[in-house]
Amino acid sequence: MKLILAIIRPEKFEDVKNTLERRGYIPMTVMEVKGRGEQKGIKLSYRGRTFEVDLLDKIQIEIVAKDEDVDEIVNIIAESARTGRIGDGRIFIIPVEKSIKIRTGEED
Ligand SMILES: Nc1ncnc2c1ncn2[C@@H]1O[C@H](COP(=O)(O)OP(=O)(O)OP(=O)(O)O)[C@@H](O)[C@H]1O
Ligand SMILES: [Mg+2]
Repeated sequence: MKLILAIIRPEKFEDVKNTLERRGYIPMTVMEVKGRGEQKGIKLSYRGRTFEVDLLDKIQIEIVAKDEDVDEIVNIIAESARTGRIGDGRIFIIPVEKSIKIRTGEED
């Protein structure tokens, strides 16, 4: 089992979620987060003035998946979340030792 932790643009979330659902990947945990990547702050112009934004709004998706599903899930997220511009996001894959369903005590 792996934890797939993806940090993406908020405006891409619906696309990513719907594509995952169509391909049969339903369970997920979603968080509104703030972050920055390699470019640190970005500059925004508003009414002729420039503002530096240090941390940008992102959506973090967490999916615990079987090893054999990881590549497909990562591909779906990467393809659905990509614009080709800086700030498209990052995907991290982390080993998971155990998962317990509280209702039944069932372990995966
Ligand atoms: N090394 C990291 N550790 C933790 N979070 C990260 C890391 N890199 C990126 N993130 C998270 O991912 C979000 C999106 O990152 P971003 O897409 O800007 O990555 P990048 O490596 O700078 O790629 P790009 O050059 O395409 O912008 C960040 O706002 C941050 O929340
Ligand atoms: Mg970046």
